[in-house]
Amino acid sequence: MSAPPKTVLVASPEEEAAIRQAVRTAQPGSPDSVLAGPEHVPGLVTLLSDPAVSGPIYDLPRPINAQTVGAWVAEAQALRQKGEAILFVSLDPAGEVAGYSRFSVWPDRSSAEIVGGRRADLQSRGQGSSGAARSFGWMFEALGVRLVGLTAALDNVRSAKVIEAAGFVRMGERDSVRPDGTIRRSLYWELTRDQWRALHGA
Ligand SMILES: CC(C)(COP(=O)(O)OP(=O)(O)OC[C@H]1O[C@@H](n2cnc3c(N)ncnc32)[C@H](O)[C@@H]1OP(=O)(O)O)[C@@H](O)C(=O)NCCC(=O)NCCS
Repeated sequence: MSAPPKTVLVASPEEEAAIRQAVRTAQPGSPDSVLAGPEHVPGLVTLLSDPAVSGPIYDLPRPINAQTVGAWVAEAQALRQKGEAILFVSLDPAGEVAGYSRFSVWPDRSSAEIVGGRRADLQSRGQGSSGAARSFGWMFEALGVRLVGLTAALDNVRSAKVIEAAGFVRMGERDSVRPDGTIRRSLYWELTRDQWRALHGA
């Protein structure tokens, strides 16, 4: 399951409330993204049934089917109302689900995480770094968190490149817990909002 960053920040009650409100009301940072709803479940099942998409991702429900993915979408909708998660899907020009981003937010710690993937035919085309940078900036500026922690499988070279291109700082490894309780060893990075702004001129 998603885990908050190793570094523990403490948000004031005002900051926590502002982040929760931002999560409830935030609009996607990308023009091809929309909030995931029940209507996207068949497309998400197709997307996530491809091991090239879901294989490297530890926190997805398994097995992937309409029931498990439907419950996962519904859970994200409920958590959004609490200000603690957002699930976006990206749509291709034909309106098909072409990727997803799931943001976990810990408002009391002013912290967040993103996990996501794009359809196999859209991978390794050099769009990962720009798309990820847009999402990272959106977490700091639209959600208002001060810290983002990220994980990737030890052999996920593309994710590591995308994350480090944005300036995230490697902080060793951590155990990521899958929904079935098993452990996936992960590379681990953090970046603060101040570091982000210094690097990206915001
Ligand atoms: C991870 C992911 C989002 C990256 O997006 P992408 O569009 O495929 O990434 P890019 O094409 O921009 O490539 C990212 C970097 O990896 C490099 N790369 C691409 N394919 C590669 C390969 N097969 N082996 C090694 N490096 C590769 C690119 O050269 C680029 O590095 P550079 O910026 O230094 O040139 C995408 O591959 C994906 O959805 N993968 C499956 C799900 C996943 O792993 N999600 C992340 C979980 S943490």
